[in-house]
Amino acid sequence: MTKSNSIASDSDEPVIGLAPHYYTDPGIYEQEKQRIFFRTWQYVCHRSQVANAGDYFVFDIADQSLFIVRDREQRLQCFYNVCRHRGHALLEGTGNRNNIVCPYHAWRYGLNGQLEYARNSDNSPGFDAGKICLSGVRVEVFCGFVFVNLDAEAEPMEHWFGDAADGLHKAVPDIDNYAPVWEHSLDERCNWKVALENYNECYHCRHVHRALTHGVIAPESIDIQPQAYTLRHTGHGVAADNACYGFDESTDQYRVFFLWPNISIQVYPGRIVNTYWWRYHGVDRTTVYRGWLTPGGREDATTMQIAEIDRDTTFTEDLSVVESVQRGLGNRGYTAGPLILDPRGGIDNEISTYSLQQWVREALHND
Ligand code: FES
Ligand SMILES: [Fe+2]
Repeated sequence: MTKSNSIASDSDEPVIGLAPHYYTDPGIYEQEKQRIFFRTWQYVCHRSQVANAGDYFVFDIADQSLFIVRDREQRLQCFYNVCRHRGHALLEGTGNRNNIVCPYHAWRYGLNGQLEYARNSDNSPGFDAGKICLSGVRVEVFCGFVFVNLDAEAEPMEHWFGDAADGLHKAVPDIDNYAPVWEHSLDERCNWKVALENYNECYHCRHVHRALTHGVIAPESIDIQPQAYTLRHTGHGVAADNACYGFDESTDQYRVFFLWPNISIQVYPGRIVNTYWWRYHGVDRTTVYRGWLTPGGREDATTMQIAEIDRDTTFTEDLSVVESVQRGLGNRGYTAGPLILDPRGGIDNEISTYSLQQWVREALHND
């Protein structure tokens, strides 16, 4: 695991962003699947969504279908969503099962992935059900959020994300007891890196996101810095009189923990916890999800108020931006432009974009 968060430029030349073909070439996307998506910790769902034995949750990482299930010993297990017989998918969506029965020839598996029954297998020479188990994947829970890593050799999450869990607990001491109450999503016709770069820089915020910078976060306070494989966004709220939602003034902190490469956990003034996370479907197909969490998953009027304002402003405003950029990356008149890298930090900066692009370069080109 290599990582560089320092800006390697000792010349007077500007630092140039990733070349456009990184965002449009299906061959690059294929490499990213193998070297990034299948080797990093990917957010799946919240622990509360698989709270009881038998609860399951089907999801994709790029073109790989998997599912999380809570077994009878209350452990969270993750398996590839494929029958070990002839390859049929085992589960769809979410739900609760006592066991897992394949829809094709009805082989039955326990919640621990072990094959329990295959009709007429007793009469098939050499068949040993005890040797057949679903293919498992590593699972970790981070502050209540469930992650998996398809790489059996991957370092644990704390090696990737440093003190992010401590930082999140400082911002929201009872974060582990929060649960999702509302989520919405948008399909974006753009490369995943366009979506992540746009999300993680605020150079565009004053111009594109008036509701955010006038009614939620004071723009002059915003700073975004890399730490390990995270991007930490910090700042404070606008004066309560100007706020677009009535937050509890006991804290006006803005704290964001983006965990490379598919989720950001955000704390808005008043300890309003919310998430952005992404799923990748192809070189120019991405879905962005916007989640809102409250203590115990209870309905909360303030959270709902800011969630609705956000959906109709900041969240939607980025859609046309990222889709226009994706079209521009395929425009013959475009070559990669210089990044704005101000060593003093602050909102008008693309240090975060530089970090994201370095992490991509390292994953694709370092062994
Ligand atoms: S493919 Fe699952 S039982 Fe045959
Ligand atoms: Fe934005």
